[in-house]
Amino acid sequence: MTTPTIELKPSASPLAAAEREAILANPGFGRHFTDHMVTIKWTEGRGWHDGRLVPYAPLSLDPATMVLHYAQEIFEGLKAYRRPDGSVATFRPEKNAARFRSSARRLGMPELPAEMFIEACDALVRQDLAWVPQHGGEESLYLRPFMIATEVGLGVKPAGEYLFLVIASPAGAYFPGGVQPVSIWVSEDHVRAVPGGMGDAKTGGNYAASLLAQAEAAAEGCAQVCYLDAVERTWVEELGGMNLYFVYGDRIVTPSLTGSILEGVTRDSLLDVARDLGYTAEEGRVSVDQWQRDSENGTLTEVFACGTAAVITPVGTVKRTGAQWQQGDGEPGEVTMRLRTALLDIQRGTAEDRHGWMHRL
Ligand code: COI
Repeated sequence: MTTPTIELKPSASPLAAAEREAILANPGFGRHFTDHMVTIKWTEGRGWHDGRLVPYAPLSLDPATMVLHYAQEIFEGLKAYRRPDGSVATFRPEKNAARFRSSARRLGMPELPAEMFIEACDALVRQDLAWVPQHGGEESLYLRPFMIATEVGLGVKPAGEYLFLVIASPAGAYFPGGVQPVSIWVSEDHVRAVPGGMGDAKTGGNYAASLLAQAEAAAEGCAQVCYLDAVERTWVEELGGMNLYFVYGDRIVTPSLTGSILEGVTRDSLLDVARDLGYTAEEGRVSVDQWQRDSENGTLTEVFACGTAAVITPVGTVKRTGAQWQQGDGEPGEVTMRLRTALLDIQRGTAEDRHGWMHRL
């Protein structure tokens, strides 16, 4: 297979600097997009071809394009950070590249070589460098690589044509409250994914499956939904778009990967960051009953959510049918905030990158 070089067709009308700076001052999450995007095609018998860096623009799709009907789609999320010297680096892009390949296998899609995935992300960040927010704040540039089935037809089969794209969006805090504790609704009626299903693939279908329960969480006054395992409806799995950690004093525990939990890059990194700080970090099983009991008896001192978009966000109120409790004293916990700072310091280039995680551009 040959690696297509990415041909540049720069935008003739990039956003004016003053407008871009106004967006960067308060980007929110996923609301604004940079001037360019990368596209690479895949065709059966030909492989990857026509890599291009083009002005950000709508796609034109035939109404019978297969992704619109059978949801053959996968995506990733990673961030580029501005360092104190003004240079830019992305965080562990090879982990996203590997997960993207694994998601592609599960969805019967072609696997994009890791070097092409990283080259595409790098090319977009380099072109839209002015969109990477300044060092020192919460903001970064969120990259969204994704792939869709573009063959036209209604037969149910793996498509013979695909389009890989990378778009970028300046991002502040995922939750409107910033790092203030979020409330969680534990869904005991709906499950997100089943073992043997698509649970650990990062595909839009898994997120679509989470939306009804997310709406129920909102009706319960909660910001996020938490899923239990699909078989026993007992074991805590993950939130709608992020993983969970439980803090027992100086021991932190995250649900083990069961095949129906997303293998989060932040989740994985925190196992190392926590150990570097002297905590015991484990993967294990936590039941919702244990969560409630240990919170009520005070042994479970903090809970936090983590993900590329969410970074690390403390959990405050937790609700399930017939019960409600408060995690800690309602303020962001000490361990949560220590881990958050340690991870962000590596990402922003103000702490030693002892694991070699940062990819410099
Ligand atoms: C991420 O954290 O990058 C995610 O993909 C979660 C969500 C925004 C879908």
